[in-house]
Amino acid sequence: MRIPVFAANWKMHKTGLEAVAWIREFAVATKNLSAADAEVIIAPPFTAIAAAVEATRGATLAVAGQNLHFERQGAFTGEVSAALLKAAGADLVIIGHSERRRIFGETDESVQRKVTAAHTAGLVPIVCVGETLDERERGETLAVLDRQLKAGLDGCSGDQIAALILAYEPVWAIGTGKNATATEAGEAHAHLRRRLREWFGGTHADRCRILYGGSVKPENIKELIGLEDVDGALVGGASLESSTFAAIVSVSATL
Ligand code: PGA
Repeated sequence: MRIPVFAANWKMHKTGLEAVAWIREFAVATKNLSAADAEVIIAPPFTAIAAAVEATRGATLAVAGQNLHFERQGAFTGEVSAALLKAAGADLVIIGHSERRRIFGETDESVQRKVTAAHTAGLVPIVCVGETLDERERGETLAVLDRQLKAGLDGCSGDQIAALILAYEPVWAIGTGKNATATEAGEAHAHLRRRLREWFGGTHADRCRILYGGSVKPENIKELIGLEDVDGALVGGASLESSTFAAIVSVSATL
């Protein structure tokens, strides 16, 4: 009952022109795919959002920001607000990606404020959670997920939970070529769903899409997407080539 979602996180790659070329190639490569098979999201750098929005007009691709600032406006040099993203044509925004947490000091508290700001502006948040290798080896994975989830989603309504997208991204799997095994991903996703049910009720929790992220490739997506609580993928490196990302998305049509 949950339509799978595949999100391409381009990180700090691609100009507007490169984004437009990717979107055209992707449309050709996925022309037989229907919107009922999968939803597809691209997250370009801020500078390519307007071009991407223009190029996706009439297509089923949605555009997301990769980050936002939680204040509505003001003297925050270098920052972009939810309202600015929305006005540029984005419909979603990635929040709390581990690179933001690790390199740029994002905290559970700022994630929560950003989720609220996104909702206020009418953007759908894609909220990222996940443990580091140290945390996994210390046996703290589920406790870390609980902390990030509870803090990040604090104040959300059931309807907001149903509409938002959660991404489980073990930090040790991002950009390393080493994805979580089906057992590891299955356990984390089932745990997240269980917590959403406890905190927000079964009806809303069962509508929330939970994506897996971390070294997703055409070779490993089939096993991951086959897991009960894995509703799609957040893809970094393998989303930069339109044909590779198209191969990942196409798996959902052949399930
Ligand atoms: P990766 O990145 O697919 O390159 O591991 C995933 C992510 O950071 O969202």
